[in-house]
Amino acid sequence: PINGLGVTPAMGWNNWNAFACSVNEDLLISTAEKMAAFGLRDAGYEYIVLDDCWSLGRDSKGNLQHDPAKFPNGMKYVAEKIHSLGFRFGMYSDAGSYTCARYPGSLGYEKQDAITFASWDVDYLKYDNCHNQGLSGTPKITSERYRTMTDALRAAGRPILYAICNWGEDFPWKWGPTVANSWRMSGDIYDSFDRPDPRCPCSGDEYSCAYPGSHCSVMNILNKAASIIDTSLPGAFNDLDMLEVGNGGMDDEEYKSHFSFWAAVKSPLLMGNDVNVMDAKALSILNNPAIIAVSQDPLGVPAVRRWRYYVNDTNQYGQGEIQMWSGPLFGGDQLVILLNAGNSSRTMNATLADIFCVATGIAKEIQEDWDVYDLWANRMDDATAQSIIDGTSIMGAGTSVASFYYNATQVSYKE
Ligand code: DGJ
Repeated sequence: PINGLGVTPAMGWNNWNAFACSVNEDLLISTAEKMAAFGLRDAGYEYIVLDDCWSLGRDSKGNLQHDPAKFPNGMKYVAEKIHSLGFRFGMYSDAGSYTCARYPGSLGYEKQDAITFASWDVDYLKYDNCHNQGLSGTPKITSERYRTMTDALRAAGRPILYAICNWGEDFPWKWGPTVANSWRMSGDIYDSFDRPDPRCPCSGDEYSCAYPGSHCSVMNILNKAASIIDTSLPGAFNDLDMLEVGNGGMDDEEYKSHFSFWAAVKSPLLMGNDVNVMDAKALSILNNPAIIAVSQDPLGVPAVRRWRYYVNDTNQYGQGEIQMWSGPLFGGDQLVILLNAGNSSRTMNATLADIFCVATGIAKEIQEDWDVYDLWANRMDDATAQSIIDGTSIMGAGTSVASFYYNATQVSYKE
């Protein structure tokens, strides 16, 4: 870990998924006000992050200029307002000569720009990958390009959480922990559970199109994360991209699955919706305290995929498969997720040996004395606990009428 920040995954809101370049002072401040009023600040959502398109250019001394039409009172004013509402303020730049939307980038200006951000009281920097002048293609070249800003932020003297965005291109999970607090590991998320953007899809699990436009479904990103997620550490996390909860492209069960997995694998949780039009269901997903507690668990260990089965032949985009993920939580608890990405209900079985990744003999020894807590139903699940004690497996009955059934259970060990 590069600094003492972001020991648990960062939580907050970022404008990009819902607003893209339509940014201004009012949007950020009114979003912060609403998030506080909805209880989301107190639930843990801490950072209000301004993405691309805030800038006008550089002045004659090379200093970054905000766009006064969008931010009439300047960035320090926005930071002050956001701080006074009890949040921290995030901004965006790019490790290239331009941002993705062709505003000035910070390549070659790292020290100067880090000082500018610090002088505006910025607490978080998202750092993108567009127009990088070919300084990419190997982990060494790319990590050095991003590390220049790590050093510049440190030298600027203000604690600034550093969230880099390399889309997984140059294996950021291999070098990310010594460079940043989090790193994007995929192309941009697309508001669909299992259909990537038809205009420029992720192919299978991978990032395929050059930006702009490689847009991955939740299942694309999750299936890619499965192979690398164990590289996350407290203070240094794989970032599965901003949340789509509340943006309308998935049904509620799908949004619950999306949110559950992002929490379980310790991805940053940045809301990506318009809080002005958020309905009660989206709010109840985003501020579910049990799922947030999984995200912010002090152990900071991501759940990993224990198995995956294709249950029909339409698995190209992760449809029709079932998966079981599990991982340890602080205090000896174990998180278990059964995912049914199929179109019909199914019964899924997970053995204790699978859930703890141990030999059957050892599983027998730990068979007794478990409580099971269903995190979405918010109740003890005695039937499942009894099935463990009886030596049968944990069952997630796929009885939901929704196309994608999800059932998270937390299994607690009784001392
Ligand atoms: C690409 C990133 O992946 C997105 O999250 C967003 O920051 C855009 N660039 C902004 O141009």
